Amino acid sequence: MTNSKYLVASFEWSSDIGSEIANTLGFTHTILESKQFPDGESYVRYPIDITTFDGLIIVQRAYPGQDSRLMQVMLAVHAARDMGIREVHVVLPYLPYSRQDRRFRDGEPVSLAVVLSLLSSLGVSSIITVDVHKPEAFKVGNVRCVNVEPFRLYANNLRNVDNAVLLSPDLGSLWRVKRVNEFTGVPYSYLEKFRDRITGEVTMKPKELDVRGKEVFIIDDIIATGGTIIEATKILKSMGAVKVHAIATHCLLLNMADSRMLEAGVSTITCSNTIPTKYTTINISPLIADALKALIT
Ligand code: R5P
Repeated sequence: MTNSKYLVASFEWSSDIGSEIANTLGFTHTILESKQFPDGESYVRYPIDITTFDGLIIVQRAYPGQDSRLMQVMLAVHAARDMGIREVHVVLPYLPYSRQDRRFRDGEPVSLAVVLSLLSSLGVSSIITVDVHKPEAFKVGNVRCVNVEPFRLYANNLRNVDNAVLLSPDLGSLWRVKRVNEFTGVPYSYLEKFRDRITGEVTMKPKELDVRGKEVFIIDDIIATGGTIIEATKILKSMGAVKVHAIATHCLLLNMADSRMLEAGVSTITCSNTIPTKYTTINISPLIADALKALIT
């Protein structure tokens, strides 16, 4: 790494990730002041003089409250650039709007392109995120984006399970189970999922899977309503799977998704700390620190 001085500035809700990154990389850490005005507009402020630093790493868990948390990031980036900081990296462990990475229906925006363009136009040097919905979607923006893959950390869950099978709930996530397979050698398969673009309802095409007597680990990037995992679990159980486990990086767990998943027969739920939940056991901070170390050379 260079001899440049970097500051890690995290928003309070993300200060655990920010301080771990700063400790790992030997950088100073500060927590940004932030509040909402009575009318709902955002306010941010650096509590220390940032002009003595060459580079800045802003850390924001942009969930829940994606819109205002993204706005906070934009204000912080603008302030830093305006004060002459030449290099500003933004860490968004969960990248909001990443699922709307194309126009699915006529008349829709490519929302991810909007987020990336705004950050790029403010002068961001790079965006670091974890397990983005589709890494190829970064092409919609003109800013350097780094996708941190958490998959080697998933291997711990598979240790000591002799009859494990990895399952992707759709073709779009197949690359994830292949990555977990590279670290574990555990066999994998996938289901074919269809989502109604208007109602959001998930259906799955049943297919022959060799899961009888097996413990199946469903790997996905996001658990939102839980519909995907629940549908997959029903199919897997009907085919004789003895246990179904769900592992996902970003657990939004909307509308008591966890209770509904457990009721549907899911034995365990494992989440990372991109969004802290009671199922969080995977810490992605060291992986983000590694990615930053490689960037800041
Ligand atoms: C979609 O393709 C994603 O990879 C996830 O499968 C999806 O976001 C999960 O959403 P839900 O929990 O609402 O089914």
